[in-house]
Amino acid sequence: MPLSVVVLAAGQGKRMRSSLPKVLHPVAGRPMLWHVLARARELEPAAIHVVHGHGAEQVRDCFPDPDLRWCLQSRQLGTGHAVAQAMPGVPDDDSVLVLCGDVPLIAAATLQRLTGVTDSEFSLLTATLDDPTGYGRIVRDAADNVSRIVEQSDASDVERAIKEINTGIMVVAARRLKPWLAVLGNDNAQGEYYLTDIVGLARAEGVEVHAVRAPAAATVLGINDKHQLADAERTFQRARAEELMTLGATLADPDRIDVRGELTVGRDVFIDVNAVFEGRVALGDGVRIEANCVLRDSTLGAGTVVHAHSVMEGLVAGAQCELGPFARLRPGAVLAERVKVGNFVEIKNSRIAAGSKINHLSYVGDADVGSDVNVGAGTITCNYDGAAKHRTRIGDGAFIGSGVMLVAPIEVGERATIGAGSTLTKAAPADELTLARNRQTTVPGWRRPRKPAK
Ligand code: UD1
Ligand code: CA
Repeated sequence: MPLSVVVLAAGQGKRMRSSLPKVLHPVAGRPMLWHVLARARELEPAAIHVVHGHGAEQVRDCFPDPDLRWCLQSRQLGTGHAVAQAMPGVPDDDSVLVLCGDVPLIAAATLQRLTGVTDSEFSLLTATLDDPTGYGRIVRDAADNVSRIVEQSDASDVERAIKEINTGIMVVAARRLKPWLAVLGNDNAQGEYYLTDIVGLARAEGVEVHAVRAPAAATVLGINDKHQLADAERTFQRARAEELMTLGATLADPDRIDVRGELTVGRDVFIDVNAVFEGRVALGDGVRIEANCVLRDSTLGAGTVVHAHSVMEGLVAGAQCELGPFARLRPGAVLAERVKVGNFVEIKNSRIAAGSKINHLSYVGDADVGSDVNVGAGTITCNYDGAAKHRTRIGDGAFIGSGVMLVAPIEVGERATIGAGSTLTKAAPADELTLARNRQTTVPGWRRPRKPAK
């Protein structure tokens, strides 16, 4: 049977106490709904319908993907009403997989188990919790078959003691589901059309409900508040840390790494505590990341070391570079091999060739720096004239003394030497010493003024 996925994402999420729609709250740097959609796509369904309502435009704008079919639920009248909004677009011969936009840690393998139950018109994913408070409880009959689901607010004391809960995830044949949704009522504690009531309807028609128990409860829990959001984040990050260690990375503390995107690692990578990886980051063999570094959309070659407290975004670094501590590499920084970037150095939109050193307190922007160049402490490429940016070119083997201002556009020739404290406004020739500063003078016999004696 073809599979239609229906993702419920219309709720406001009152308990988040936030102006951001619930399904847009990030887990690992991406909206919860992003994770749910990614898992849904792994099943290669015929269609993915997203029921949205609260913050509709904001939610839609986050997911411009052409494969999604958006169904508007303008008033949030309950989960049953929500699923019904998608039904006009679902063929009767399909199986419908209902997913919740607030269950982001669901594993594709779990969904495959649920969709794979043979000869089932109704499969339900359940979990067993020590503390089932807040969830719908699974009521079973004397033969241990699922007979209905009762919501927390409608449950008796005996029912509240049940530890098996409804994850909200289920697979139902569309030809069964449609008529059941049409007859749901809202005579319950919350005055909502509960999707969960279809379980009772199924049993009344003699349709068996196959319960599949989720392997790890933590991956199927709905996120309703900031506490659960934080728990989900830690669960997710711990799983990423385990994957990285399986791939051979050494983590100083697997509970103190955050991967918000895709991180790939070569052999013998070491990552110290409190490193944050965002977007796509690739670490070559033997890379070391010291404590408290943030790396976003960057690629580091084999053997490169990032010392503590460094921030890199859009960096491409070759092998054996040494960066930081306290280095800031910005988009367009392209370093060849063996480049050294020291403390309080900022580099943006610049190519630095092999073996060059920029060790202290410098700004290098819009520059092409040759190989084996030494850039002295406090040197600045003055790249911006208030209207446009200009480039600085420094030839191979040049030596730039400390505190040099390079007013771009400007060129420094190969093996040129620039005296410390120079402000260069025109090209400095190759192989020569260029100075652009006032000569030192001493005023003989000069006396410092003194305060008159009292
Ligand atoms: C629901 C289930 C409960 C289950 C729990 C699991 C019902 C009646 N209850 O309760 O049995 O244990 O999930 O997490 O189904 N939504 C809409 N439109 C609506 C209402 C909700 O799209 O009108 C969406 C929400 O955005 C959310 C999902 O449906 O993604 C679940 O809704 P929520 O209000 O969180 O239901 P729970 O009370 O958690
Ligand atoms: Ca919920």
